[in-house]
Amino acid sequence: MAMSDDLKSIQEQIDERLREADSLEALEQIRVAALGKKGSVTAIMHMMGKVPPEERPAMGKLANTVRANVDSAIKERKLQLAKAAMDARINAEASDVTLPGRRLSPGTQHLINQIREEIEDIFCDLGYTVEDGPFIEDVYHNFTALNAPVNHPSRSASDTFYVVDNAPEGKGDLGLSASDVLLRTQTSGVQVHVMEKQQPPIYMICPGTVFRPDTADANHLPQFTQVEGLVVDEGITFGDLKGTLDYFTKEIFGKDRATRYRPHFFPFTEPSCEVDVSCGVCHGEGCRFCKGTGWLEILGCGMVDPNVFRYVGIDPEKYSGFAFGIGVERVAALRYDLPDLRMLMTGDMRFLKQF
Ligand code: DAH
Repeated sequence: MAMSDDLKSIQEQIDERLREADSLEALEQIRVAALGKKGSVTAIMHMMGKVPPEERPAMGKLANTVRANVDSAIKERKLQLAKAAMDARINAEASDVTLPGRRLSPGTQHLINQIREEIEDIFCDLGYTVEDGPFIEDVYHNFTALNAPVNHPSRSASDTFYVVDNAPEGKGDLGLSASDVLLRTQTSGVQVHVMEKQQPPIYMICPGTVFRPDTADANHLPQFTQVEGLVVDEGITFGDLKGTLDYFTKEIFGKDRATRYRPHFFPFTEPSCEVDVSCGVCHGEGCRFCKGTGWLEILGCGMVDPNVFRYVGIDPEKYSGFAFGIGVERVAALRYDLPDLRMLMTGDMRFLKQF
């Protein structure tokens, strides 16, 4: 039974090689070596003719069984290898769901917009409306109707960005400036717009960007933010102005800060004041931040000049009012002791993230 011994040892060898085979290529080599044209099992099948006829059926059966065994063993090993490859891949690509996620830092509002909204909230709580006005303004609303005399220095091209006027006869207000159209230098023009369309009582603020041809330095920006305020009603007095602005300064800077009202001049208010708040660094003693004075200027204000009422057709005998203009960058600088206003414009995340 030499042939049957051969077959059995072939089967054992193949089983052993299959156990060691660790790739599809290795399996294919084993298959070719056993079942291919010149394979060991195939060779035995070819020798079947030489087997004595009485042994042939049993031998043929054995040979077929060996061939079928080898065939199914290869297929089974193939499945094992495929599964092992898949397990390895799953392990390699597995994510650790217990790892902390990557933190997204959400954006925040710019400090200037935060303060602007805070100011809006303070005045909305007092019943004021929030108005809007155009960045590109005309000389009439920015100067003339605000009672600024034609020779007022703020009208000059060195203090105002004039926009090229395409009107055929665009000579400018009274021919003094190159153009009638400008980038607003103050939000005060919105007072005029509001009074043109609305009769008193008026209690409004207007936050917005203004523009001046200043070179940016520690204390100046060519583009900055103001909040204009206007109240027009019957019987409004300087006491109302002072009560309102004292309340505002305490809300924005804290209850322990004092205010003082210094006489000043603005064309559109009479009398006019500048308001100072006591220095938060030295509490009035005098330090470098307040240049030794103990006070920091925060806004301009005054009682609406009757001439302004006449421009917009409001009767100055019946109504009186007050107005104010707050510099938002100034509020930011005073509240957070900013040494240089340009910090507000650079977009430096190390600075902005503090607020
Ligand atoms: N418009 C002034 C400026 O830009 C600020 C100002 C002062 C506004 C007094 C007012 C006011 O409404 O009453 O310097």
